[in-house]
Amino acid sequence: MKKVIFVMGVSGCGKSTIGKLLSEDLKIPFFDGDDFHPEHNVLKMSSGQALNDDDRQGWLETLNNLAKDQLAKNSCVIVCSALKQKYRDILSRDIQSETKWVHLSGSFEQIFKRINSRPDHFMPAELLTSQFDILEHPKNALQIDISLSPEQIIKTINKELMATSEFGLFGLGVMGKSLCRNLANNGFKISMFNRHVDGIEEDIAKNFKAQYSELSQAEAFDDISAFVNSLQQPRRIMLMVNAGKTIDYVIEDLLPHLSENDIVIDGGNSNYVKTKERYEYLKTKNIHFIGTGVSGGEEGALKGPSIMPSGDRDAYDNVKVFLEKISAKDKNGLPCCTYVGPEGSGHFIKMVHNGVEYVEMQLLAEVSTILEALGQNPDDIANTLEGWRTTASSYLLEITTAIFRKKEGDDWLVNKILDKAGNKGTGNWTTIASAELGVPSTLIASALFSRYISFYKEERLQLHQNFRTIVSSEMNITTNDVLEAYQFARIINHYQGFKLIAEASNKFSWNLNLSEIARIWTNGCIIRSTLMEDLVEIFKETTNILTNSELIEHINQYKPSAKKVVSQCVLNDITTPALGEAIQFLNGITTTYASANIIQAQRDYFGAHTYQRLDDDSGKSYHTNWN
Ligand code: 6PG
Repeated sequence: MKKVIFVMGVSGCGKSTIGKLLSEDLKIPFFDGDDFHPEHNVLKMSSGQALNDDDRQGWLETLNNLAKDQLAKNSCVIVCSALKQKYRDILSRDIQSETKWVHLSGSFEQIFKRINSRPDHFMPAELLTSQFDILEHPKNALQIDISLSPEQIIKTINKELMATSEFGLFGLGVMGKSLCRNLANNGFKISMFNRHVDGIEEDIAKNFKAQYSELSQAEAFDDISAFVNSLQQPRRIMLMVNAGKTIDYVIEDLLPHLSENDIVIDGGNSNYVKTKERYEYLKTKNIHFIGTGVSGGEEGALKGPSIMPSGDRDAYDNVKVFLEKISAKDKNGLPCCTYVGPEGSGHFIKMVHNGVEYVEMQLLAEVSTILEALGQNPDDIANTLEGWRTTASSYLLEITTAIFRKKEGDDWLVNKILDKAGNKGTGNWTTIASAELGVPSTLIASALFSRYISFYKEERLQLHQNFRTIVSSEMNITTNDVLEAYQFARIINHYQGFKLIAEASNKFSWNLNLSEIARIWTNGCIIRSTLMEDLVEIFKETTNILTNSELIEHINQYKPSAKKVVSQCVLNDITTPALGEAIQFLNGITTTYASANIIQAQRDYFGAHTYQRLDDDSGKSYHTNWN
């Protein structure tokens, strides 16, 4: 991969000498930034005046253009003091992923002595002091100690920048492998690691590399130390291992090999509370920790997932180029990856994403069951769902359509699948989190509990014998009623999911941007849909989607159908917990006088828990002797 190597540091650090030697060694062109100053800068400097940021602006842009022009042809070395981060931002604008920074660093005394020992050179101490004063230490640079010999310096740069990998992937399961191929396809030099377990996991990385041509430049390891040492510093290591305790074990295995400022990214479905703990633990070791949601399954990981990273902003900036490049792109070509917020917020929103996913899946399962009760066979159901694409398009609708078409022999595969739904825990966590935060995520809970009920297969079969159920009767509804009920419940689902995010954001002071979260969920992830695209705009105006006039209109239009469908299902003993809960929830959240007055009276009756009165708005608590 072509790259621009910027050698930076204060005056007198030896950057021109090193830059030239490096360019000779690598056989790539060399440019001294000082040769590109416009005339007014040259005049100003020669009159002994220091340049200000305005003077530098145009010059830095010239060097950025030079770097871009060179990149089109070849790699190159450019030397430039680049003392402030904002200068470096201009120098690397649009070419961040191809830019490498080498910082030649030394102490004031060392450099002062070095300059003033050169014949015909004198630099007043104040001038050098001012350089040190404005120097903002680059976080993404290869730090080189100038007391090394030029040969050693060149060797180190060569080893660190040219011969080592930019990004490490730890754990080559389905998702890890797909992400490796995605990174390699995007031109990144990667190192891949998978553990060795005798007779069970042997040569996983090596065999994987041999399987795909795009991995020819990638390095494969089953030894942690060799893997870590193959990475440029600060190292970027993404873990794609099972969520849970494994993450902690892997962190402990990695720690002895890591250096200050290295970045560990957890790309699994980890619990956000654990992510916060790990972030804090690694901070004490001077290691950055980024917890990131990654959605899209195997195919998404390969072709472009939705990525939801959180942690320190600086650390994110260091891995941004990689994550944004491999992510899916929204309809405007922007990456479906954004810095979500601090600590565990990325994993929190991925958890809610999964909660919303559970509901979207449950709703499709319910509407398909209703369509079946209307006499449709799986092919008919597929045709009906296909017809909904114009008004309710989503990835999950698309795959469900395909599922209903799939045949095995003469029969449809879907009819042969055991009706027990599994789960890996994220729906459970979302339900727990909403209970803890006091947010009524009733649809997520109902989708989760439906999976749990499904798991009681034996008990279901047994209890079926004990109770009378309607065998079949006329269902007085149309497929369009079912579609409208489905659309109704989806709006409520998205309201609840984003409400949970908004409340968590307030509680934890995360300052999350709901529109941006909806945007990175418009492509790559499992819950991408046209509704999600609408939400990107709606969240620019409000944090409560039930105040948006278009959605209000939709809800009012669809609600009668939802009521009709659910009541018909109740009359026919068809289970529709999520559809039913959507109606219950809307009724609850729009009730002006809830039955909670009775609950308050009961609480006061048996426990003297007190209540407040409508005719006294002072907040005073009342207790009644109810007997
Ligand atoms: C995704 C999915 C993915 C996975 C989860 C959900 O966004 O790509 O959510 O993370 O499907 O593991 O799994 P369960 O249904 O097993 O809980």
